[in-house]
Amino acid sequence: MKIELSNNKVFFEKQGSKKEIHPFWLRERVNSEEFLDQKTQQRLFDPTMLKKTPEISKINISDKFLEVSFKDGAHAKLVIENILKEFEKDNELYHFNKISWDSSFQNKNRFNFSKNFFEEKVMYESLLDFYKYGFVIFENVPIENNFIVNFANSIGSIRRTNFGEFFNVKSKPNPNDLAYTSLPLAPHTDNPYRKPVPCIQLLHCIQNEVEGGLSTLVDGLAVTEALKKEHPDFYKILTEIKVRFQFVDENVVLEDWAEMIQLDENNRLKQVRFSPRLDFVPLMEKEKLELYYSARNKISDMYNSEKFRIEFKLRPGDLLMMDNHRLLHGRTEFNANDGDRFLQGCYIDYDSTEGKLKHLKRKFNI
Ligand SMILES: [Fe+2]
Repeated sequence: MKIELSNNKVFFEKQGSKKEIHPFWLRERVNSEEFLDQKTQQRLFDPTMLKKTPEISKINISDKFLEVSFKDGAHAKLVIENILKEFEKDNELYHFNKISWDSSFQNKNRFNFSKNFFEEKVMYESLLDFYKYGFVIFENVPIENNFIVNFANSIGSIRRTNFGEFFNVKSKPNPNDLAYTSLPLAPHTDNPYRKPVPCIQLLHCIQNEVEGGLSTLVDGLAVTEALKKEHPDFYKILTEIKVRFQFVDENVVLEDWAEMIQLDENNRLKQVRFSPRLDFVPLMEKEKLELYYSARNKISDMYNSEKFRIEFKLRPGDLLMMDNHRLLHGRTEFNANDGDRFLQGCYIDYDSTEGKLKHLKRKFNI
């Protein structure tokens, strides 16, 4: 794809087809001081007040830049590469070099915590790994009660839920969720009943003196890719049927309808949801339900199979950051009489990690 000029008009050419770029699109992007606040990158004019597109008076193109002057005195110096990116209309991070993995994955994406590392290059590298694999582990994070809140707010902003700003994962009497017992937890995604579903879960290990209680992770991307290949009819129905996810306790009823495998407008994986203790498929004809139940059983088998699962023990000071729209997580059983097992968790959203990543990219000019 490239940019070309002809008769005071700007064209882009892609796969042999040449189309004009609307001059208003260029006029909106004028970036001289008079028209764009250089610090905030916000417009100093309201483009909806321009009832007619000012005419282009001069254009110039070099290897890197397109320069356009308009008859009303506005001027744009645009990086050509950025224009082409806008044409693709893609958030580069969502699909940035995602690498699906299974049980053979060598867990090397571990990073050492240090006091100011949120503003260092190592944070950028760790966030890239997060987008690549869907999780990352930080080591030697201070074992202070509630430190997770500081950690989350140093990347972005904590996402509060009805479980509070953060939650303690510890077996406790009369739990309102199985997470707060010593029972094994099969791979699941968190809070599929919430609108929107929290994007990223942070889990900080404060104490872990028990024998079992291993953390488990499964890559939903790898499983859905395999399902699509091996059982396209199962893949299809799970991408089409919206089921009702529900959470009920004394104070709240949370519900949402969504597909177990949600695709984006380009049919790429957007989000997996899996929590078979709280999903309710709508009433449909028997044959369709038959297919749906077979599909759910198959994906459950895959999510629970050793082929896709990695297991590891979180040690005190480890902080696991995982993508709740892509990965499933769980834990193996443990005996609460062995000793204390105490983790603290919270959620953040993608704008936290994306915002931080883009900020660090800009800061280090990467
Ligand atoms: Fe969970």
